[in-house]
Amino acid sequence: MRFDEYMEDALYGASGFYVRGGRPAVRGGDFATAVELGSLFARCVAGYLDRVWHELGRPDPFVVVEGGAGRGTLCSQILRYAGECRLSLHYVMVERVDRQRTEALEQVEALGADVPVTAIADLPADPLVGVVLANELLDNLPFRLLERSTTGWQEVHVERGERSVGAPQAAQYGGTSEADEPQATSESVVEVLLDAPADAAAMADVLMPHAEPGARVPLQLKAAVWVRRALRLLERGRLLVFDYGVPTTAELAARSQGDWLRTYRSQRRVHDPLRDPGSADITCDVAFDQLPPGTTLTSQADWLAAAGIDDMTSPARNLWQRSRAKPSAKALVARTLLDQADALTDPNGMGAFWAAEWRAG
Ligand SMILES: C[S@@+](CC[C@H](N)C(=O)[O-])C[C@H]1O[C@@H](n2cnc3c(N)ncnc32)[C@H](O)[C@@H]1O
Repeated sequence: MRFDEYMEDALYGASGFYVRGGRPAVRGGDFATAVELGSLFARCVAGYLDRVWHELGRPDPFVVVEGGAGRGTLCSQILRYAGECRLSLHYVMVERVDRQRTEALEQVEALGADVPVTAIADLPADPLVGVVLANELLDNLPFRLLERSTTGWQEVHVERGERSVGAPQAAQYGGTSEADEPQATSESVVEVLLDAPADAAAMADVLMPHAEPGARVPLQLKAAVWVRRALRLLERGRLLVFDYGVPTTAELAARSQGDWLRTYRSQRRVHDPLRDPGSADITCDVAFDQLPPGTTLTSQADWLAAAGIDDMTSPARNLWQRSRAKPSAKALVARTLLDQADALTDPNGMGAFWAAEWRAG
């Protein structure tokens, strides 16, 4: 099977990572997702939703669709911090994994908020006026994997096969020994390179006209389709996605595959997505040039600054400065908020993630 089919099964199949109850854990900057860090990210997004609601002429209903809603944490926090737009707000969580969707709805319903909330498995069908949001969804959508050879493009397939314990199968996966990991099981699979179909090869040529033999590139067609479908939903409004990635695919080819195709198992980074399928989260830096055109790309740090994160944290900063020598309980809470802000805007971590916005109408 092709790598994207393998990834689909390893994450979302009957024994897939997310279906078994896996959760995104350690990410780019050694932290959980921006959403799971605390409520500061959601406060910034809630402020954005209010501004968009005003820009759109205060539509009623104002529909917010969140793709890849996970356990409903962002939704819960947005309901808590929503401003004036809450009067018109209808929130739709889209989560493909049944178990997470049920958990999400339970978590949100427990709040008893006065906003209609639904949870569905795929993007809704009817056009809407509002905002489609997604945090760290696109990096989790299965992608195809191509490798440049001396004669053309080949595509990575995987098949069941014997593995030697402790040996990552290719230097592409980072080359670090995983001998301290649980032993590979008979479930392990191995890589096979086959000539890429003409359409995939043509796409890779456009994205990477000067690829050197050995260079690898992801084809993120599912991410592109998801964005296209989300845009088609919007009669008027915005699509806002946050994710780690790079503006151009060429930047990925210049780095080793282990750097942009990442695997997380038991809360830590490992190097071989083919080992013990279903036991690990598999993610890829998003190549934003593979998504539909028309986006404004801003670093997450700059987006949060524009969304007012400094104003939101300045009382905490003042309190901490005043009492850091002998911090009170309140000052320690303030410090927690400042740590969150530091993590969200860290230029070597989440601050270097991207906020991509498309406008419709
Ligand atoms: C990395 S998690 C991010 C969860 C949450 N947004 C956060 O920031 O913590 C990605 C989530 O997207 C879900 N997902 C993957 N593909 C999806 C799709 N096509 N539609 C809806 N949800 C999807 C996964 O099941 C998972 O819960």
